[in-house]
Amino acid sequence: MTEPVLLSSDRDAVRVLTVNRPDKLNALNAATLDALDEAFRAADADPAVRVVVLTGAGAKAFVAGADIAEMNTLSPAEGRDFSLRGQRMMRRIETLSKPVVAMVNGFALGGGLELAMSCHLRIAADTAKIGQPEVNLGLIPGFGGSQRLLRLAGRAATLELCLTGAPVDAARALELGIVNRVVPAAELEQQAMALATQLAGSAPLALRGVLDCINYGGECGIEEGLAYEAAQFGLMFSTDDMREGTGAFLERRKPAFKGR
Ligand code: COA
Repeated sequence: MTEPVLLSSDRDAVRVLTVNRPDKLNALNAATLDALDEAFRAADADPAVRVVVLTGAGAKAFVAGADIAEMNTLSPAEGRDFSLRGQRMMRRIETLSKPVVAMVNGFALGGGLELAMSCHLRIAADTAKIGQPEVNLGLIPGFGGSQRLLRLAGRAATLELCLTGAPVDAARALELGIVNRVVPAAELEQQAMALATQLAGSAPLALRGVLDCINYGGECGIEEGLAYEAAQFGLMFSTDDMREGTGAFLERRKPAFKGR
């Protein structure tokens, strides 16, 4: 029996998805793009899942890029479709209604960095190597890298990474704002799970409100963005969790959020 290209396991309310092509450094072929799309659709729809952690199988790579062997023979129209397929899947992750944490356990190159950037938070092993090396293949980023890296790290870093194709180490990626945290490789899983567990204990509708404000409010002008934030803020007052969170503070106890 062939191994599935994506593994899924639940640890309480945290779903861990693992891209599982370690012999190809977890390169994203079309089947893996589709498996990720379906897995994130399912995680979004499942109320028992409050947070998703995404990683790559093996010690070496998160994801070393889109599958170069598969791309080698594509026609222009197929190349465009491949790009759209990846972009759609990553946009699904970015606009998921619950937080997604990328656990970057090694190479995050090309489509791998693009995948990590579509997640809401990135925690990287100190051994990780991060870059957009597509120009070395006569290509450019095709899964949103030119757009998300620009928004995440600005023009200077984006132009440097995309034009040179040279990877940076985890410490430099942290300096550039591409990853949120860098931890010793041996502690990565424990620290990523601790972060995910913390988020899983938070108020789901408030987390969703934050994600929506960043994803939608953050892409328009300041007036519209502020109005969107105010509308989301007002919406929180319709939730049981807001009464619970503020009430628990006043009663000096720990809140128990229910996602309602
Ligand atoms: N697509 C398809 N296969 C890939 C791949 C990718 N993006 N990245 C690695 N692989 C495969 C290799 O072809 C090799 O397969 P093989 O054993 O069947 O020959 C296997 O994964 C191991 O990779 P290898 O290159 O032997 O490992 P390495 O330690 O020498 O080098 C990298 C690691 C990450 C530096 C190197 O694999 C690399 O540069 N990969 C491509 C990165 C890239 O350009 N990504 C952007 C794609 S748009």
